[in-house]
Amino acid sequence: MPATDLDQIVNLCKRRGFVYPSAEIYGGFRSSYDYGPLGSLMLRNTKEAWIRTMVQERDDVVLIDAAILTPPQVFAASGHLANFTDPLVDCTVCKRRFRQDQLETRDCPQNKEGCQFTEARAFNLMFKTSAGPVQDEGTDVYLRPETAQGMFINFANVLQTSRKKPPFGIAQVGKAFRNEITPGNFIFRTREFDLMELEFFTPPSEAPRWYQYWCEQRMQWYIDYGIPVEMLRFRTHDSDELSHYSTGTRDIEYLFPWGWGEIEGIAQRTDFDLNQHIEHSKQKLDYFDQATNERYVPYVVEPAVGANRIMAAFLLAAYDEDIINGEPRSVLRLHPRLAPYQVAVLPLSKKDTLTPLARSIYAVLSKRYMCEFDETQAIGRRYRRQDEIGTPLCVTVDFDSLEDASVTIRDRDTTEQQRVPIGSLESELAKRLGF
Ligand code: GAP
Repeated sequence: MPATDLDQIVNLCKRRGFVYPSAEIYGGFRSSYDYGPLGSLMLRNTKEAWIRTMVQERDDVVLIDAAILTPPQVFAASGHLANFTDPLVDCTVCKRRFRQDQLETRDCPQNKEGCQFTEARAFNLMFKTSAGPVQDEGTDVYLRPETAQGMFINFANVLQTSRKKPPFGIAQVGKAFRNEITPGNFIFRTREFDLMELEFFTPPSEAPRWYQYWCEQRMQWYIDYGIPVEMLRFRTHDSDELSHYSTGTRDIEYLFPWGWGEIEGIAQRTDFDLNQHIEHSKQKLDYFDQATNERYVPYVVEPAVGANRIMAAFLLAAYDEDIINGEPRSVLRLHPRLAPYQVAVLPLSKKDTLTPLARSIYAVLSKRYMCEFDETQAIGRRYRRQDEIGTPLCVTVDFDSLEDASVTIRDRDTTEQQRVPIGSLESELAKRLGF
């Protein structure tokens, strides 16, 4: 059963080295997190799983990696300088700030004597800094709040160099920054996060069909990576909550312990962004279709998802508690491609006689999989640790291995053990992991 309490995951993440509060030795930096040895592997796996599906396994999407620091002209054109705001209210008594659209009532949640709100004002979420040694208007730059603009401003470059034509997509994975008024819920909403976005450029008349296509594809992706279907749903944005660039957005939501929450947005950005950049840059960002003799500005369908936020959803969905041999255990039933380690190599004892064989097996397997080598503690405790960090398979090297050249594969989910010859270990692991 998926975790019903966020603390189950927050505690596991801290205890096992997935996620730590940032700058902890200085008392912490609110709503900012560092990814530890296991969390950084899982975050990387999450991004690689997305790239595998969105780029590697199709021939109509290319990947780019654009700059984070962005000059103001880009966000003047995209509308972010004027419109990327949240409505902010200040309480004049307790001095706390809130997003007006997230308040359930007009009363301050602090509920102090006489608490009172100011009128709402638009608060721009972009972080601004300055480039170079001179701090004046001319050197303002912004940390990108979405990666999307990197795809739009490089549309002509990619078109010329990649031999693609609409319908085709440009994908990007990278850091985005938003000065959120109310960050929170662990890694669900932070001010710095990893965004994975696809801008899919289509002939205008084909945009509705591709929008439907991407909604279906993206929902299936979460199911394929192990999120139970009943924990997922679509929610269509009301017209008053649409981003300034969108004519229609559907969110994929996950049932978090605190209720349904967005994990991905699929937006119909039409030709809004390309037209804005055409107007502001005076450059050509359209496409000439030689087959139909038509020139047009492509429409864009954009699936956009935060890697950290879906990592939280994957962890929550994978969490389970059961009883094995009369003992309770907690286990992360993570998809093998998402788990920090795919295989743990465990010599039964720390004795010198087993170490060379176990080490040689680790050396072979670690060329193919992220593996952990662990020779401390009793074997049962080591299995429990691997279960709790989501390692799908353990390979145990025992004293018989020296005689029969076989090892034991132990399965995380069923706890079943099977003896296999070392010669067929790699193929057996590949069969079970699926890669
Ligand atoms: N380019 C479109 C765009 O950025 P968005 O709905 O604002 O759309 C896309 O963000 C996704 O990014 C969200 O569905 C969520 O997964 C993630 N995300 C947004 N803000 C976030 C934050 N403050 N912390 C973590 N993830 C965030």
